[in-house]
Amino acid sequence: MQSRILEHYRRPLPRCPALEPLCRFNNYVKACLIQRYMRPGAQVLDMACGSGGDLKKYRQNGAGSYMGYDLVPERIEEATTRHRNTRCMFAAVFEVRDFAQALDLRSTYDFVSCQFALHYAWDTEERAMRVLRNAVDCMAEGAHFILTFPDYAEIVKQLFRMMVEPNKDNWVRWEVDRHVYRVGGPRHSLVFESPLPFLDFLRELEAKPFGRCYTYSQEGAVDQVPEYMVEPTRLHAMCGAVGLEVVFDGNFSRFNDPCPLGDGQSFAELRRRMGAEEPLDDEAKLIAALYRALVLRKPRAEPATLDPRGERGSSSREEERRQKRQRGDS
Ligand SMILES: C[S@@+](CC[C@H](N)C(=O)[O-])C[C@H]1O[C@@H](n2cnc3c(N)ncnc32)[C@H](O)[C@@H]1O
Repeated sequence: MQSRILEHYRRPLPRCPALEPLCRFNNYVKACLIQRYMRPGAQVLDMACGSGGDLKKYRQNGAGSYMGYDLVPERIEEATTRHRNTRCMFAAVFEVRDFAQALDLRSTYDFVSCQFALHYAWDTEERAMRVLRNAVDCMAEGAHFILTFPDYAEIVKQLFRMMVEPNKDNWVRWEVDRHVYRVGGPRHSLVFESPLPFLDFLRELEAKPFGRCYTYSQEGAVDQVPEYMVEPTRLHAMCGAVGLEVVFDGNFSRFNDPCPLGDGQSFAELRRRMGAEEPLDDEAKLIAALYRALVLRKPRAEPATLDPRGERGSSSREEERRQKRQRGDS
């Protein structure tokens, strides 16, 4: 599977003119996250940076420095050239690396990003966990980690709809020894294969949070590339286990609202500037809704306080708990 992913991303990535408005919308979503959660001067780490498509967004938001890595040497070469040609004010380093292997990064970052890539590491729990650990290990306290990846709930919803109302783009077919489940539209598809009939197939999907693969195709751009379902309950639990808290978690369709992040901040002007106001056609809307955005934060450690005996080391919350116990509160 990894070799198929590598093979796909080694080729020059074509653009499909019919899906240009979708590309602009996706870029707008990423720009919202960067504008909202990155502070000017931040040291940025871009895991799976591809050909550096987000460099301009970081320039516009005043990044202090940038480190980008990607599995594919051709993309890293392109990103390096793009940085040279983009007149970025910040220094950037690009390296070929697998974000699902131990990285041992020596620097600390204020802002970490993993765009449209997390699902490639969801083949095993070990690799998935490694991505999160790689991020958290190099994040400064208070740093944000932004991610975009396929939305499990939306895909399951589409599978159900396919069973209830099959049509020419959404169908199930029996092929010698397996069922083929297809959801999507004329210009894109997600295809699952399983020996199991529908309800058992869904049950297995739920029971097995890693390695649940489908192939994704998008006209003129992606041809049957394997991707893995990222099951959200397990993902949230894993984030908690490495000490990351969830700040925002929402489907891309929320970004049609001028204030998508739930804090009253409007991005209408950004959307206009990025030329992403054009309404998406029905299929592009479907593709956009296949994705979700997740924002995580590494909490700041609680400051050490002097306890009543004048000794250092107990945090304010510990102190509060100690006082409660003394008062006999539950
Ligand atoms: C859809 S592209 C997104 C690129 C970029 N983040 C963006 O938003 O424009 C996915 C990228 O993930 C990279 N990728 C896939 N698996 C990877 C891995 N294990 N380690 C690092 N990069 C990986 C691919 O090479 C590709 O450049």
